[in-house]
Amino acid sequence: MRVPLAVVGLNESDIENVVSVLRSGKLTMGDKVAEFEIAMADYLNVDHFIMVNSGSSANLLIFESLLRPLNGAPRLENGDGVLVPAIAWPTSIWPIIQLGLVPIFVDVDRDTFGLDLDSASDAIAKSKIPVKAIFPIHPLGYAIDQDKLSSFAHLNSLILVSDVCESLGSWNRGLHAGMSGIAASFSFYFSHHITTMEGGGIATNDSEMADDFRSMRSHGWSRDRLIPMNNDIELSAPESKFQFVTTGYNVRPTEIQAAIGLSQIKHLDEFIVKRKNLVARVSNSIKNTPLTLVVDKKITKNLNSENHSWMMIPICVNADVISKEKVQDFLEDNGVETRPVLTGNFLDQPVMKKLSGYVSDVSLDNANWVAKNCFLIGAHHDYTEQQINHLTQVLSMTRSIK
Ligand SMILES: Cc1ncc(COP(=O)(O)O)c(C=O)c1O
Repeated sequence: MRVPLAVVGLNESDIENVVSVLRSGKLTMGDKVAEFEIAMADYLNVDHFIMVNSGSSANLLIFESLLRPLNGAPRLENGDGVLVPAIAWPTSIWPIIQLGLVPIFVDVDRDTFGLDLDSASDAIAKSKIPVKAIFPIHPLGYAIDQDKLSSFAHLNSLILVSDVCESLGSWNRGLHAGMSGIAASFSFYFSHHITTMEGGGIATNDSEMADDFRSMRSHGWSRDRLIPMNNDIELSAPESKFQFVTTGYNVRPTEIQAAIGLSQIKHLDEFIVKRKNLVARVSNSIKNTPLTLVVDKKITKNLNSENHSWMMIPICVNADVISKEKVQDFLEDNGVETRPVLTGNFLDQPVMKKLSGYVSDVSLDNANWVAKNCFLIGAHHDYTEQQINHLTQVLSMTRSIK
């Protein structure tokens, strides 16, 4: 029996939707994308959702729009510092470096793996460059406290933008994760809460920024903008379709992706309930073992908390009893797939040894501790009952590994 980190997760109605798009003859971005964007905006309770081809592209457009908005008033400039967590995903960091900004790595909290605001204060105090933005990752389904994030940003005059690629369906203080900032990225890669195979998007309540995302995902053209443009040049209808007003990329999604998303999103709440039930069973199975479920102390007693939608299950090992490697080998030998927590401490990745253009001035003790002692197993909503039984049995057997 195998329990992979994720399963494909497509149901019959997803497949029917794809077939009907294929038969329709309209495959590139169109009505289905628009419909999916409305469904996502409704779900997140935000004004705008702009779908793109991946969560990584969503991160790229967020920073592009902060640097080169159409309104000529950039919120960030070349060389500005952006606070990021050391436990990060590569494409949370690359757009910052690629667009001439400077990631400033800060430590994470051991109980949640989220960016630690004390460490962020320390990084600001030590920084030799202007620190202008903070880009927290809401990790693995956990919504970081939005009030704390927004007051910290306010107090330090920082732009708050968030990477919510791992935490669709996670709420905090009445807001969806990421929505206390000005924009937040999402991913629909197949292991996430809903899938469009590959796919992602950006949520924002800022209408100008939303229009910039609409231009920037499509070469920089004006045709998808909602706010009427103040044009100096009168263009005839066919010409106006080829008017380019911002820098841009081609990171559009297809109708096929949106059609899958439309049928998946109807099941999102049900998927999250299944994930929470799985976590409760995993939590029971690791009692009296050297393993601990990583969960914010505030929600330990209520694993049903709306602050957590459980993208994966983070587990730490009591290093006084056994090493993480021994536990992972045991699980893998018994068919349970495991992986590092995101990428571990991202600064330990080989590529970072070769790169310059980032700052790491503060202690990253917690990130190093997490990388050394913790790992992830899957939390997928489509595991079979046999897979769940197998998973919990194997986990409970870790109490007797020698
Ligand atoms: C925190 C984080 N940001 C960004 C991404 C990138 O999303 P995508 O794979 O859709 O490009 C991921 C991927 O899982 C992620 O975990």
